[in-house]
Amino acid sequence: MVKMRTFETEQLATVYVAAIIEGLISAVEHPVLGLATGSTPVQLYRQLVAFHHQGLQFSHVTTVNLDEYVGLSADHPQSYRRFMHDHFFGHIDISPNQTFVPNGQASDLAAECARYDKILEVHPIDLQILGIGHNGHIGFNEPDQALQTKTHVVRLAEDTIVANTRFFARPEDVPTEAITMGIQSILQAKSIILMAFGRDKAAAVRQALSGEVSTSMPASFLQMHPQVTFVLDAEAAVEVNQRVNDLNPIYGTANPFWAPLSRSSE
Ligand code: GLP
Repeated sequence: MVKMRTFETEQLATVYVAAIIEGLISAVEHPVLGLATGSTPVQLYRQLVAFHHQGLQFSHVTTVNLDEYVGLSADHPQSYRRFMHDHFFGHIDISPNQTFVPNGQASDLAAECARYDKILEVHPIDLQILGIGHNGHIGFNEPDQALQTKTHVVRLAEDTIVANTRFFARPEDVPTEAITMGIQSILQAKSIILMAFGRDKAAAVRQALSGEVSTSMPASFLQMHPQVTFVLDAEAAVEVNQRVNDLNPIYGTANPFWAPLSRSSE
C-alpha cells in the first residue's frame, strides 16, 4: 500500500525525509541509500549536509544512484555524478568508492549496465529516494509499451529532453540517452520514498498513486511495493482526494512535522 504524507511546504517535507534518513543510517550498520537527482532532492541534500555539520556521520553509508546521462563525463557540470558531488558527496564524510553512479562515458554501455546490476546485487538498497517526472517517469524509466526490469540504456522522451534544455547552453548539447536502473531494480529496494513538490507534479502524483498500474505511467508500479511513501507539499497533493489522516491516523496533529491542510475538496 502506498502511504502519503503531505506537508504545507517543501521545506517541512524535506526535513521529514532527512529525519527518516538520519534514523535509518543511525540504526543500520551498513545502510545503502538509493539516491536521485533533479531539483526535487536538492533541499534534502542540503538538509543532510546540515545534519552532518551537527554530527551525523555518513562514513558507513553506501549510495547507489538511479541514473546518468550517456556521453557526459563525471565532471561535466550537468552530469549526475557531478550533481551528487556538488550537492552532497563533496560536503559529507563519504568515500567516493562507496558512492555508485552509472558511468555515462563507458565505451561498452551494455557491460556498464551489467556492472551496475552487479553493484545492486552486492548492495541491496534499504531506502530508495525518488522524484517523479511530469510524465510519470522514475529514474529514467520513461512511459512506454513495456518497461525494462534491469539497468539499461534508454532513449529519453521528447518532453524530458525539452525539460532538460534549461540546463544546457545549446539544444544540441542536451543528452538524448541515459543509463537508468530498471523498474524491478527500483522495486527491489526495501523501502521507497517518492518526493514531489509543486502544482506541476500534481497530475503525475494523482495518476501514480491512484490511477491504474500501467507502463504509460511508470511511477504507478510503486503501488505494487509493500513499503512506499509519497512525501508531498500541498501543491503536489492538490489532485489527490485522500486525506493524510485517513491513511495515517497515528500521526494526527501531535506530529510536529505534520501541518494541517485546507483544500477546496475538504
Ligand atoms: C529527471 C531524473 C529523475 C527526476 C526527474 C524529475 O529526469 N532522471 O530522477 O526525478 O527528472 O526532476 P525534477 O526533480 O527536477 O522535477
